[in-house]
Formats: sequence, C-alpha cells, structure tokens
Amino acid sequence: MKQFISVNDVADLDALMQEALAYKADPLKDAALGTGKKIGLLFLNPSLRTRISTQLAAKNLGMETIVFNVDKEGWALEFVEGAVMNGTTVEHIRDAAPVLGSYFDILCIRTFPSLQNREADYAETIISQFIKYTGVPVISLESATLHPLQSLTDIITMMEVVGSREWPVGKKPSIVLTWAPHIKPLPQCVANSFAQWVNAWGEADFVITHPEGYELDEQFTNGAIILHDQSEALKDADFVYVKNWSSFNEYGSMPEVKENWMLTEEKLKNSNAAKVMHCLPVRRNVELSDEVLDGDNSLVTQQGANRVWAAQAVIAEIIKNN
Ligand code: CP
Repeated sequence: MKQFISVNDVADLDALMQEALAYKADPLKDAALGTGKKIGLLFLNPSLRTRISTQLAAKNLGMETIVFNVDKEGWALEFVEGAVMNGTTVEHIRDAAPVLGSYFDILCIRTFPSLQNREADYAETIISQFIKYTGVPVISLESATLHPLQSLTDIITMMEVVGSREWPVGKKPSIVLTWAPHIKPLPQCVANSFAQWVNAWGEADFVITHPEGYELDEQFTNGAIILHDQSEALKDADFVYVKNWSSFNEYGSMPEVKENWMLTEEKLKNSNAAKVMHCLPVRRNVELSDEVLDGDNSLVTQQGANRVWAAQAVIAEIIKNN
C-alpha cells in the first residue's frame, strides 16, 4: 500500500482486517517495525479519536509522532495552482508539502470539505495536492469525501460481533445505515466511506435509509438497497449505523424533513436486537436517544477503542511496503 485514501488503496481487505484484529490481540507484536521512523499528523480540522488513536498506533509500532494543527498554528495554505497570492493565504501547498515530506516517513492529513463547491470537494483537491507534492506515503485522517480509518474500524467492529459465539453460524449480517437529524450541515464522508467499505467487504445485506433529498453519491452506495421508509429499513436489522449528512445533490444544504428520524429504542423494536453504531462525536437526543447510546446494544465505545487497531494495521502495512 502506497497511500491510504480509500478502500481502493487496499490490495487485500481481508488481510488488513485480520491484521487490525491481530494488533488488538497483541498491540506490541511489531513494536520495532517503525523504529527510527517519523509520522506527521496534520490537522486542518478538529479531532479527538482520530488524532489520539493514530498517535497510540504509531507508538505501538515504535514510531515518533509529531502532531501539527495547521488550522490553528500554521500559515494559511493556498491550494489553487497559479494563484496570485496577494490575499489571505501565506504559503502555497507546492512549497509546504515537499518540506513536510522531507521531515516525515509518512504524512497523515485531516481535511474536511467546504460543502460549498462539490466539484472541488469530490475531486479531493486538498489531500490530492499533499499526495502530489510531499513525496512520501499519505494516510487520510478523513478527507473531503471519505473517512477510511473510520470505515476499517467499523468493519472490524462488526466482524468481532459476527465472529462471536453468540452469532448464528453462517448467518449473513443485515446492516442498515440510517440518516439522522443534526443542527448543521455535515459532510457525507462517513456515510460515503461506510457504504464503500461495506460494499467492498461483500459479506452483508446492506440497506441505506434516508429522507428524500439526502441521496448519496452512487459511486459509493452502488449495490446497497435504498429505502426512504426508516421503519421498513430497520426491520430485522442486525447492525444499525447512525449518521447525519447534508445533501449531495443540493450540495451542502439541509432539505426539510417532516418526520422525526432520531433513532430511539421504540424504532429498534422490529430489528433483530440490532447493535447500534456511530463514529462519534454524536449529538445526544438529536441523532440518537440517550437510551440507545447507553443501552446494552450500543457499540460506540468499542468502535472508538478499535480506532487504534485500524490505524496500526494501516501504518504497519505502509511501513512494510515503502
Ligand atoms: N470519528 C472520528 O473521526 O472522531 P474524531 O473527529 O474525534 O477524530
């Protein structure tokens, strides 16, 4: 693996998932793999889980980590080729990225979409320029359209359930991704990425449910059943993944929704005692009710904890291949 931006960068998905679970079982099994190597974590947007889990993962591999909050501490970066820089931006990515590449063996970047310009966001303008100009492998810590470390985590978390003694032998999991309300427009990244990874995994019946107007980009959802009736979608579900996203078609907008799409225990009554997932952070009693989040079927803490093992498997794979 030369970079980790989407599931398409993974040559052997099953092997990567197994490696992540192997790191969970034995975090220090490759404690010297990254000795003498440095990893840079660049944040153009806030983070709790991604930042800390990736640091812990790198430490388990013996790497040195430097975290840099570009948005708060760095020069304002320019990404437009040929820009006349007589405005607010101070440094061009063409100049900054090669220097960063000289400091680090691996560069990790978090950058959110503008939600203003769909063409630029879906072209992954920012992370693509880091890839183009750094000269070292780049790992996405969430980009304009995808969140691959989260999705790898989500899959291994479901694998733990499906691989447990309680799971009926040979049963294919029924997975539902449901849209949830929010107070402001959010990126489509987590939903896009979850759909892309579940489709690539290919081991589940997969339904996406959302109100009219919240269709996702078909390049990621292709293969999933799309339902606008949340109640119908939740019937017999084994896993319910809850996430808000803003409109893809009316880019970045929040079309009006008349029904209440917040996930509650009542709505889960017809599910198959579904395990409930959310990437966090979550708006309690807006996206999900307290009772669901704090209930026995909530996987959210397990998911957050598993972020370390997904990051560790990806970093290790990149070290081994570069
Ligand atoms: N799920 C996730 O990416 O969390 P953070 O934004 O806190 O990193």
